[in-house]
Amino acid sequence: MKSLKLIYVAAFSATALFSACVSEGEDPGVEYAPDMYVSKGYEPYSQVADQERSITFQGETYLINKDGKTMREPVEGTIARGKLDFIFNYAPGDVDEKERAGRELSNPLPLTQANLEAGRRHYNINCAPCHGDKGLGDGLVGQKYPKGLVPSYTTDRIHNLKDGSLYYVVTHGWNMMGAYGKMINPTERWQVVHYINYLEQN
Ligand code: HEC
Repeated sequence: MKSLKLIYVAAFSATALFSACVSEGEDPGVEYAPDMYVSKGYEPYSQVADQERSITFQGETYLINKDGKTMREPVEGTIARGKLDFIFNYAPGDVDEKERAGRELSNPLPLTQANLEAGRRHYNINCAPCHGDKGLGDGLVGQKYPKGLVPSYTTDRIHNLKDGSLYYVVTHGWNMMGAYGKMINPTERWQVVHYINYLEQN
């Protein structure tokens, strides 16, 4: 009889113990080390405030998240999937490198109406303000430069640049001209090269 009582007590306490842990309705129940379930929701593009937290390991103290960034930077040299053509192994601002690009690279895009149209579009957005609609170096911004600084595409200076060198100039910029490699993607740059050739002849 006594042992039956004991069993009752044990069963009751076990139920009580477990039911206390179970979440239900508004009650989250008892959680052990809740950090493990509920992680802190950092905004990816924000700086975190508690970057001062540190851990000490073998006598050395390390700041957790020293730079306070929530998102990590990719490992140096990382190339996003499908972006291999963004690699451009020619040093900027070097006439030999510009010529090497001219020798080694050729336009991978066929000269089609569609590529020329796209080239015109990107040219009009990015280049025409200085180089002018027709590439004569007379865009509204171009006119503010000392006379003759923005070259006309009808000159020998441009005729002598091979497609690869034009691509180099668009990607890295040249002397007084800024770089467009971060503004327009490789396909668009080659389309612009087609369009420069078109302007040179027309
Ligand atoms: C803000 C004005 C400006 C814009 C925009 C601009 N350029 Fe230029 N560009 C210049 C100037 C200035 C030069 C002359 C640079 C020098 O020699 O100092 C130049 C030079 C060039 C040259 C000749 C480079 C050489 O090696 O002689 C080419 C080709 C060229 N630009 C193409 C482009 C193309 C294509 C775009 C658009 C993607 C563009 N530029 C946008 C100002 C501009």
